[in-house]
Amino acid sequence: MKRVLFATGNEGKLKEIRAIMAEIGLDVVSMKEAGIRADIVEDGTTFAENALIKARTVMAASGEVTMADDSGLVVDAMGGEPGIYSARWMGEETSYRIKNAEILRRLEGVPDGERSARFVCAIACVFPDGREFVCEDTFEGRIGYEERGANGFGYDPIFYLPERGCYSAELAPEAKNEISHRGKALRAMREKLRDQLEG
Ligand code: IMP
Repeated sequence: MKRVLFATGNEGKLKEIRAIMAEIGLDVVSMKEAGIRADIVEDGTTFAENALIKARTVMAASGEVTMADDSGLVVDAMGGEPGIYSARWMGEETSYRIKNAEILRRLEGVPDGERSARFVCAIACVFPDGREFVCEDTFEGRIGYEERGANGFGYDPIFYLPERGCYSAELAPEAKNEISHRGKALRAMREKLRDQLEG
């Protein structure tokens, strides 16, 4: 195995994944580059299930080793919302300005100790011979009181990191990758794949 397909159309993610997988000599190819189109029904109930569904669907269409990810924000004071629905929550087309303002509104009056939240990322890798691997990790923090920072995307501007005294959207991209849910899960997957390549 020298090449892996990654089931995403997101260029930013591809760039990050390529940099991490290059360390074990793995070429990461996008669905577009591989000429693969697949209708994916993400009807799992967990991040890991959804990542596996995406990877299995694209592997079946391509016959190649395929990776996929699924991630989102889990807010404890909102019973885990938006969770696996993070992208679709309040509507796919709704801006994150509005989504973030709604989360801040729902947490009005909630004390610091109950504002805990985490980003979760599951990465799945499926081989044509039936081998399947999933790595999952989290990025722990809490919901802040305002939007801050211009980096990152999505819910980063309201995600406060108490240990760093800043918001996730205030971190430089490299600093975020070091500690983020996606960075950690991707590096764990890299080590799993390193074992497979060596084995
Ligand atoms: P996906 O499964 O990676 O496409 O992510 C689903 C959704 O989770 C995104 O559209 C964002 O709303 C949210 N999300 C995932 N990771 C992050 C992050 O690192 N920062 C901010 N939002 C994120």
